[in-house]
Amino acid sequence: MTIITETPPPSAPLKKVLAFLSAKKGIQPLTMLTCYDYPTACLEDQAGIDIIFVGDSVGTNVLGYTSEREVTMADMVHHLKAVRRGVTHAFVLVDLPYQSYVTLHLALENATTFLAHGADAVKLEGGQEQEAIVRGLAEHNITVCGHIGFTPQTLRQVGKKARVQGRTVEQAQALVQGAVALEQAGAQLLVLELVPEPLAKLITERLRIPTIGIGAGRFCDGQVLIVNDLLGITPFQLRFAKQYQHYHDQTLQAIEQFQHEVEQRDFPSESNIFGMEERMFADVAAWARNL
Ligand code: KIV
Repeated sequence: MTIITETPPPSAPLKKVLAFLSAKKGIQPLTMLTCYDYPTACLEDQAGIDIIFVGDSVGTNVLGYTSEREVTMADMVHHLKAVRRGVTHAFVLVDLPYQSYVTLHLALENATTFLAHGADAVKLEGGQEQEAIVRGLAEHNITVCGHIGFTPQTLRQVGKKARVQGRTVEQAQALVQGAVALEQAGAQLLVLELVPEPLAKLITERLRIPTIGIGAGRFCDGQVLIVNDLLGITPFQLRFAKQYQHYHDQTLQAIEQFQHEVEQRDFPSESNIFGMEERMFADVAAWARNL
């Protein structure tokens, strides 16, 4: 019998998680962006984004659903596969959708499906109440990212604005306890969504694992945005996000211009067409007349 005494070398995803820990030392904040398709994945990877995240926000941002709750495992796998094809360097994180981790058995089955399709880690929502699920996943060597604060799967009210969490002493204490419980259960990363900046700072300082904030202020170990908000696909400005581009207006303008140019017979122009040798065409035309 061979007894292995050496610690095996860390797997590639684990190596990346270890590198994330250096963000904890304040060297450089981590960057994370949602991603739902192949071309965007290529660009995010080329830009050097650390964590490319297939969020269940694909439901409301891409699929036209009214809530994250409508997103299925099949939806997530479809988008994960597209994103994975475009990523060479980044860490690929994927959201376990609503009700896909209500038991450990289900969580393991669904997380394993994601890993089989190229995910490096899975994210799930909730604090202390998810301790057992996170522990079970971690014990099966599945890298888990927690998510506390505003958790869309349970707190989103269709048609209403997302609300900042942790504004009462009880709520704030529950968030701190949740963060600590998730870390102790084996989570390797933690998303803090819509949390007051001082509370996010306190949680970040309290944990050894990196926190990644969205609407959680300047002191998290990293920042995540929904790519549609960053590109200006989302037709309104959210306080916690920044539009780096105005895709909505520019795209509408481009489509309207196409419509106008076709109607005016300005498109296609000579530079967009393919010609044909004149004699050859004359032969074809003569032949067609006798058909
Ligand atoms: O699904 C998502 O986009 C998210 C982010 C808000 C972190 O969970």
